[in-house]
Amino acid sequence: MVESTSLLPLMLSLLLLIELSVGNFVEKKNVLSLHTLQWNQHSDNGIPSCSSQKSRRENGATILEMKHRDYCSGPIKNWNEKLQKRLISDDLRVRSLQSQIKNTFSTQIQDLPQTQIPLTSGIKLQTLNYIVTVELGGRNMTVIVDTGSDLTWVQCQPCKSCYNQQEPLFNPSTSPSYQSVQCNSSSCQSLQFATGNSGHCGTNPPTCDYVVSYGDGSYTGGDLARDRLNLGTTPMDNFVFGCGRNNRGLFGGASGLMGLGRSDLSLVSQTSGLFGGVFSYCLPSTDDQASGSLILGGNSSVYKNSTPISSTRMVPNPQLSNFYFLNLTGISIGGVALKAPSFGNGGILIDSGTVITRLPPSIYSALKAEFVKQFSGFPTAPGFSILDTCFNLSGFQEVNIPTIVMQFEGNAELSVDVMGIFYIVKTDASQVCLALASLVYEDDTAIIGNFQQRNTRVVYDTKESKLGFAKETCSFI
Ligand SMILES: *[C@@H]1O[C@H](CO)[C@@H](O)[C@H](O)[C@H]1NC(C)=O
Ligand SMILES: *[C@@H]1O[C@H](CO)[C@@H](O)[C@H](O)[C@H]1NC(C)=O
Ligand SMILES: *[C@@H]1O[C@H](CO)[C@@H](O)[C@H](O)[C@H]1NC(C)=O
Ligand SMILES: *[C@@H]1O[C@H](CO)[C@@H](O)[C@H](O)[C@H]1NC(C)=O
Ligand SMILES: *[C@@H]1O[C@H](CO)[C@@H](O)[C@H](O)[C@H]1NC(C)=O
Repeated sequence: MVESTSLLPLMLSLLLLIELSVGNFVEKKNVLSLHTLQWNQHSDNGIPSCSSQKSRRENGATILEMKHRDYCSGPIKNWNEKLQKRLISDDLRVRSLQSQIKNTFSTQIQDLPQTQIPLTSGIKLQTLNYIVTVELGGRNMTVIVDTGSDLTWVQCQPCKSCYNQQEPLFNPSTSPSYQSVQCNSSSCQSLQFATGNSGHCGTNPPTCDYVVSYGDGSYTGGDLARDRLNLGTTPMDNFVFGCGRNNRGLFGGASGLMGLGRSDLSLVSQTSGLFGGVFSYCLPSTDDQASGSLILGGNSSVYKNSTPISSTRMVPNPQLSNFYFLNLTGISIGGVALKAPSFGNGGILIDSGTVITRLPPSIYSALKAEFVKQFSGFPTAPGFSILDTCFNLSGFQEVNIPTIVMQFEGNAELSVDVMGIFYIVKTDASQVCLALASLVYEDDTAIIGNFQQRNTRVVYDTKESKLGFAKETCSFI
């Protein structure tokens, strides 16, 4: 409320507003509270449960609570170390992805008989940060969500080699609806496309054996099966998944993985009769506190608290047909449009598993220069890992940071949330870095990472080949 005695400050702020808007850009308020951020990361809220079981159904959509997977790893003792390790893994994931993409191309050119490295994603699973809980064969199973891979799998009994998970292992013998997938079935043949490896026939019984390797030494192997899947209260009979009997890797205590990629075996394709090939998520920003949601099906009436959706075309990429690609046409920083020749070339990959957005060197250097120009006057700090633009903000409670807006074909926009701009390398804010990075080569594949998708409703419509963005403060209500 403005009291009549306080007209002077009001006039002053009005003057300030006029001054800001007559500049060459209209500065929007984009305040990051460093105080809250530190508090969240230090808070010790006991051992959170590794599951995300809330769900509801509304207007033809199934809405599942989605959480950060740190819920599965128990209380975090050393945040600095955790945040730094996550960046290093992210670098490995992207390097591995780039080399796989280039291998595919060279394989095509030289027409080699078989690629050595299977083309799968979810390469470095430590970076796949979000989990949901579904019911499979009558048991609650908490799985990591990945838009960059197709096969859904869980660790399965009897297990030859399983990593530690929080929930009991899936046991086929206790599920009356469990069935092995036959080796001569079309589902087994779809494996080649979904995982890069064709299924092999087990002997006696003739199971459909699969292997997915993730490039960093992580893998899952087992046999394909069908069982009843409940997504919240929505049942799906005969859902095809991998019963993983030989698994290794950094799956962080989760029971397996949910593949939301584009091929026939992905959950999106298998449930397209129920949900029309549409899903969306809102990735919460604070790692250890908030919930987001994964919404399957429905229409825009179910996106509460979100701005209208702006959509862009999914760009086909024959070499990487399992992935989702968009046509990035521009980026603006604090309202200033960057100039770079590589905009509009098509082909930026949107991924739930990569953390930090990677841009071609020409675009990244323009972005960095404009950001630093607008965010001047703050003490700088050394770079860390892939992040080269860092500040020491430990003397500040709040900072106003330049906005970052990514533009896509058809005038769609991703306005990066204030929580998706700075990566906190040190929790005392003495090393806070711009959370975007440069690719090594101009022709490497650009990627929109999950950090920049925070507090955004990202809607994938695989039938219409459209992807939409809207601003939303993630929560499960
Ligand atoms: C969304 O779907 C519901 C139920 O199917 C329907 O009643 C409603 O009119 C739809 N809303 C829009 C905006 O299409
Ligand atoms: C799975 O979790 C939900 C929510 O907590 C619960 O209602 C349901 O009974 C659980 N299902 C099984 C099979 O344990
Ligand atoms: C697969 O093999 C089984 C027996 O070996 C046979 O009964 C079935 O018809 C075959 N299915 C297909 C799709 O060929
Ligand atoms: C990307 O969009 C721009 C602007 O609409 C268009 O000129 C360009 O041809 C598109 N690029 C691709 C690869 O589709
Ligand atoms: C960061 O800034 C604070 C005060 O603004 C200063 O005390 C501290 O030494 C700086 N830390 C580093 C690592 O430079």
